[in-house]
Amino acid sequence: MRKPFIAGNWKMNLERKSALDLVARIKEHVGARDDVDVAVFPPFVYVDEVARALRGSKIAVGAQNCCDEPHGAFTGEISAAQLADVGATLVILGHSERRHVYGEGNELVNRKVHAALDKGLAVILCVGETLEQRQAKQTEKVIGGQLTAGLAGVSARDLLKITIAYEPVWAIGTGQVATAKQAGEAHAYLRGVLGGVYTDSLADQTRIQYGGSVKPDNVKELLLVPDVDGCLVGGASLKAETFLPLIDGRRMR
Ligand code: 13P
Repeated sequence: MRKPFIAGNWKMNLERKSALDLVARIKEHVGARDDVDVAVFPPFVYVDEVARALRGSKIAVGAQNCCDEPHGAFTGEISAAQLADVGATLVILGHSERRHVYGEGNELVNRKVHAALDKGLAVILCVGETLEQRQAKQTEKVIGGQLTAGLAGVSARDLLKITIAYEPVWAIGTGQVATAKQAGEAHAYLRGVLGGVYTDSLADQTRIQYGGSVKPDNVKELLLVPDVDGCLVGGASLKAETFLPLIDGRRMR
């Protein structure tokens, strides 16, 4: 049984006060619940303070990216060890904005996955096709390729530290959410790929989140899809009013 995992990717939003106000609300809301896993991904500069604010809670804190190198002359970069040092336990890698705005390719994403795992960080590995790729019926090829390349060299044991996020690029920040059918097909395909590379049992234990315009009014339908194990949320994660209902999404069944 896979526990739902609801994660808020704040992207380059919020500042100290709004971030701390939001996590206080999330902390209070989640309390000692153990029917759902919750994580927030603040901008790098707030990871430390948010992690302190959430100490003793069940909510995890992660970063939105990390460097593929362990240390050295990489101006502007942040290492996995530095993230772990300030309380991050997770990192999002291969997000579509990293891939499409900053040109990160599969090989770099894979090196980052190894860098993060080496320092004990869990990973949310994002995959997703553009609208053109979907229209050209390339969805499976693209997301299957991103998945296998991103996980190259990752052991079965380390796969247990990885969550996959299916985030169709055309659904991110557009208000155009994937239908339950589209998400279900993509997630089932990804789980099949994982089963082929690892084992069916490991594929069955791996959580696959959906991301892209998740909101309180569509989360219920998405979380009802058997292969959708939670969501990675951008815009709706920035306010308690829209994020807290997502944490309760599975309860609405
Ligand atoms: P939105 O929820 O704003 O569409 O963003 C999704 C996303 O990219 C989460 O990583």
